[in-house]
Amino acid sequence: VIDRYRNCAGVVFACALLLIGAAGQQLFAMQSEGAGADWPSVGGNAGEWHYSTLTQINPETIGRLNLAWYWDIPAPELAVSTPLVVGGEMYIATGYSIVRSFDAVTGKLKWQYDPQVRGPRMRISWGIRGLVYWKHHIIVATADGRLISLEARTGTPVWTVHTIAESENSLYISGAPRVFNDRVIIGNAGADFGSNRGYVTTYAAASGRKLWRFYTVPGDPKAGYENQSMRLAAGTWTGEWWKLGGGGVVWNAITYDPDFHVVYIGTGNGSPWNRKVRSPDGGDNLFIASIVALDEKTGAVKWYYQVNPGDTWDYDAATDIELATLMIQGAQKKVLMQASKNGFFYVIDRANGKVLSAEKFAKATWASRIDLQSGRPMETPEARYAAGDTVLWPGGAGAHSWQPMSFSPMSGLVYIPSIEMPGEYDDRNIDTKHWAAAGPYIPAPGIKMGPGEVPEDAGTAALIAWDPVTQRKVWSVQHRGHWHGGTLATRGNLVFQGRGDGQFIAYRADTGGPLWQFDAQVGIVGAPMTFSTNGRQYVALIAGFGGSGALAGKLAKQFGWESLSQPRRVLVFALDGSGSLPPPRLKAPLQFIQTPGFRRDPSLFARGEAQFHRMCFECHGVSAVAGGGGPDLRADAVIASGDTFDNIVRRGALESHGMPKFDDLTPEDSEALRHYLLARAAEAQTEAIQP
Ligand code: HEC
Repeated sequence: VIDRYRNCAGVVFACALLLIGAAGQQLFAMQSEGAGADWPSVGGNAGEWHYSTLTQINPETIGRLNLAWYWDIPAPELAVSTPLVVGGEMYIATGYSIVRSFDAVTGKLKWQYDPQVRGPRMRISWGIRGLVYWKHHIIVATADGRLISLEARTGTPVWTVHTIAESENSLYISGAPRVFNDRVIIGNAGADFGSNRGYVTTYAAASGRKLWRFYTVPGDPKAGYENQSMRLAAGTWTGEWWKLGGGGVVWNAITYDPDFHVVYIGTGNGSPWNRKVRSPDGGDNLFIASIVALDEKTGAVKWYYQVNPGDTWDYDAATDIELATLMIQGAQKKVLMQASKNGFFYVIDRANGKVLSAEKFAKATWASRIDLQSGRPMETPEARYAAGDTVLWPGGAGAHSWQPMSFSPMSGLVYIPSIEMPGEYDDRNIDTKHWAAAGPYIPAPGIKMGPGEVPEDAGTAALIAWDPVTQRKVWSVQHRGHWHGGTLATRGNLVFQGRGDGQFIAYRADTGGPLWQFDAQVGIVGAPMTFSTNGRQYVALIAGFGGSGALAGKLAKQFGWESLSQPRRVLVFALDGSGSLPPPRLKAPLQFIQTPGFRRDPSLFARGEAQFHRMCFECHGVSAVAGGGGPDLRADAVIASGDTFDNIVRRGALESHGMPKFDDLTPEDSEALRHYLLARAAEAQTEAIQP
C-alpha cells in the first residue's frame, strides 16, 4: 500500500479532517483599494485581497528589510493566524482562543485576554485563524462557540454571546468573524466530527443582539422549514438526512460585498463525507459545498452556486472568497474568485452567481472540467469510488486549504498557496444503513480512514501566480512538503509567503523572482500582513507550525518541527530593522520510552489505538507521531506510570496547561491508551522517523 502511495506522490487521509501576465492596471477598475496604514481584518480589506497599497518596501529597498521586534508566544498555544493592526496597536489570536495586544512599533505587550476555553470543546483548541476590529473593539470567536467583543484599548469584555448551543455537540469555532455596517457575522466548524447542521449568525456589533441566522442545510421536515430556501434545499436530499445533521458548516470563508449588499459564505462538506450514508438515494444536497449570497439585512438567499453537487470527498467551498472587477470578454464584470479545495479556480459573476470560467490550477482527477452552461462539474467515472479503494486528486487536504491567497490589482494576479496531495476513498464495509457518528469530536467521515501509513515525503506544494482573466498560470515556485503559509501581495510589487520549513520569503509579484529571505526557525502556516505607522512600513507574521497539516503522523515530521519545544513567534520587520532572533534551539533527538519486558497485547493495542484516534490525535498526532500542539507521548516518561497517566488523562491534572480532561473515559480505556503508547514507543526505535 505504501508503495502505491509513493507512486502517487503521497496520499493523505485523516489530516483533512480537522482541518493563484497579467493584464495590466488598465484592465482593472477596483471597487475599493487594498489595505493602507491599518489592517483591520484577516483579509485586510472588504474584498479579502490580502493586498496592501504600501510601497516603502519594494524590490529596490527590500535588501534593507530586517527584523524590528519579535515576541515569543508561550507553548502550547498554536499560532497560525494573521495579526491585525489599527492605529499602531497590534492584535493577535492564538490557540485556546487567547487574544493579545502589542504596541506595533515597540512590541511591548499591552494586554492579554484568555477566555478560559475548557470542557470537551477544548479538544479542538489547536488554533484560531484571526480576529476582527470594529470601532475601538476587537471581536473574537472562541473554540467553544462564544463571540466576545473586547475593548481594544484594554481587552475588557463588553458583551458575550453563545453562538453554538450546548446540544450542538460536534460544533466549535476556528474561524475569524467579519464585520459590515455595524454587524458582525460568524459561522462554525465541526462537520467532520459528528451530526449537526451548519449556520451563520449575524449580531449587532455594538450590543451582541442577534439579527439573523441562516442554516445551510435543511433540518427535520416535521419541525417545519425556517424559510423557502430550506424547503427548496430539502428537495435535494434523500432518506432521513436530518438524522445525521448534514454538515455544510461555514468554518472559514465569509466575504462582505458592499456593491451588492450581500455576504458570501463558503459552505463546508456534507456530514458525513460519504453521500451514500447521509443521502442514500443521491441528490445535490443543498447548500453543502456551495457559495451562497445572503442579503445583508435579512440573511435571505439571493443566489447560490454549488461547487460540488452531492459532495462525497470533503471538497468543501470554504477556501477564501475574494472580490474583484475584471475585464472579461471586453466588459467589466464584478466577480468573486475562489481557488477551491477541489482544484478548480472559479470566477463567478457577483450579480447572479453564474460561473464565468473555471479551470484547474492543480491536479484534479475527480472531474474533467466544469460545464459552463450548467455550472456542473463533469465527474470522472471513478470519482464516486463505486468500487471502493480509490485514489483521487486532490484528497481531503484539498488543492488549496484555508491559508489565504492574495489578489494584486496591480499585477492582476492571484497568489495561491496550492497543495498537491491525493486522498484515498474507500467505503467498503461501511454500514450505510445503520451508520451513526461515534460521538462528538470523533472523526466521522463515513469512509474508511485508518491511522494509515503515509510516507514522510508525501505531497508537494507550490506558490502559484494565477491570471484570473485568462485562467492560466503565470509563474510558480515549487515547495518541498505540502503544508505552508498563506500569502500577502503589495503595491510594492511584492508577494510574501512563509514556508513549512521556516523560511519567510519575498518574491517579485510580476515575475516570481525571489528577492529576500528570513529564517524564522519554525514552520510557517499563517499569512503575513503589512501596516504603517509614523511613516514607516512594517511587515508582520506569526510563525508557528500548526493546523491539520501538522497532525498527520509522519507528515507532521516533514520539516522536523516538534510541538512543545518548537518556538511560536510574532515577527515584525521594517527597513533597517535592528532586531535579531536568539540562536535556534537545538533539536534534541527524541528519547523513546523503553519498557523492559514489555509485551504487546494485540486486543489492548487495538482498543488503545482506536481511542487515541478518537480523542488524542488532534494534538498528539496521528499514530502518536506528534507535530502539532501536544508533546510526543512516545518519548514522555509519564506513560511509564499508570497512576500519573490516569491523573493527567482522566482527572485533568494538566488542564490549565492546555491538556483537556477526559472524564468520560474508563480506567480500562486509560490503560489501553497507555498500552498503545508504550507499544508505539517500542516501535519507534525501529522506525526511521526521527526528526
Ligand atoms: C487540545 C489538545 C490536546 C488533546 C486533544 C490531548 N492532549 Fe494531551 N496534552 C496536550 C498538551 C498541550 C500537553 C502538555 C501539557 C503541559 O505539560 O504543558 C499534553 C500532555 C499530555 C500528557 C502528559 C505529558 C507530560 O509530559 O506531562 C499526557 C499523558 C497526555 N497529554 C495524554 C493525552 C491523551 C491520552 C489524550 C487523548 C485521550 C490527549 N492527551 C489529548 C494537549 C492535548
